[in-house]
Amino acid sequence: MSLSSSGSGLPTMAAGLGLRRGLMDSLADLPEGALDFMEVAPENWISLGGRLKKQFRSFSERYPIYLHGLSLNIGGMAPIDQDLVLAIKDFMAEHQCPIYSEHLTYCGDEGHLYDLMPIPFTEEGIKHVVERVHQVQDLLGQRIALENASYYCAPDQQMSESEFINAVIQEADCDLLLDVNNIYVNSINHLYHPYEFLAALPLDRAKYIHVAGHFEEAEDLRVDTHGADVIDPVWSLLRAAYQYCGPLPTLLERDFNFPPVSVLLDEIAVIRSHQSDYAGVQKETGNGKEMGKRVAR
Ligand SMILES: [Fe+2]
Repeated sequence: MSLSSSGSGLPTMAAGLGLRRGLMDSLADLPEGALDFMEVAPENWISLGGRLKKQFRSFSERYPIYLHGLSLNIGGMAPIDQDLVLAIKDFMAEHQCPIYSEHLTYCGDEGHLYDLMPIPFTEEGIKHVVERVHQVQDLLGQRIALENASYYCAPDQQMSESEFINAVIQEADCDLLLDVNNIYVNSINHLYHPYEFLAALPLDRAKYIHVAGHFEEAEDLRVDTHGADVIDPVWSLLRAAYQYCGPLPTLLERDFNFPPVSVLLDEIAVIRSHQSDYAGVQKETGNGKEMGKRVAR
């Protein structure tokens, strides 16, 4: 079956913020145009009713809502939760969500680990994930996007992480959610070059981008917390991503330790400023290793 791309028709030059319960009140009164989209974990909102559902609808009527799931468990051994996927499909239709993404990880077997674990970078791992992505995409009737994840141990590696990601994205015929903070965090924890890693990804399939802050546990250990300001090396990596892909929609991930919303909007302004610097760049298709072409505006 030929599937439509996830997020087809997403605008470029769009900057968004995650809708978290702790931010709802302060985001309710934002002026028009302060954000271009919001992102939620569908599992946190699907079964809500009453006041929270009404509040959520007031956001979905104002903003495109991008879905970034937590519990699909695409690399896990337990069967795909078809009820969850169908509920997400209905939720996407109800709120006209343009894209559903997940982590290229596993998060449990019978139970839920409440953590995201790396899938072994093996041929068997590729085959396993690809079959499961096909199942999900067939149920949804469209592509999903998978995110390059942060991880702290990598058992049983037969190939590099970028080779693994390329094979999964290509063979599953799905899209890529590019997280530049995860690349930076992994590059320190696993001693690789972040720009070489970025260039090796299937960037022609990138649909949108995550940027976030993290915690510096030690000089050689970073933890992907989403609880701090974005640091300069991660902003630089975001600019490199725009250089390849053009200014794709970009989400500021902030999950706790919330500063005043004005501080988050300052970071949204930084995203927009970087995007406008690459406004003329269009993504090269078919080869993620070429820089994007700058075209006349
Ligand atoms: Fe992310």
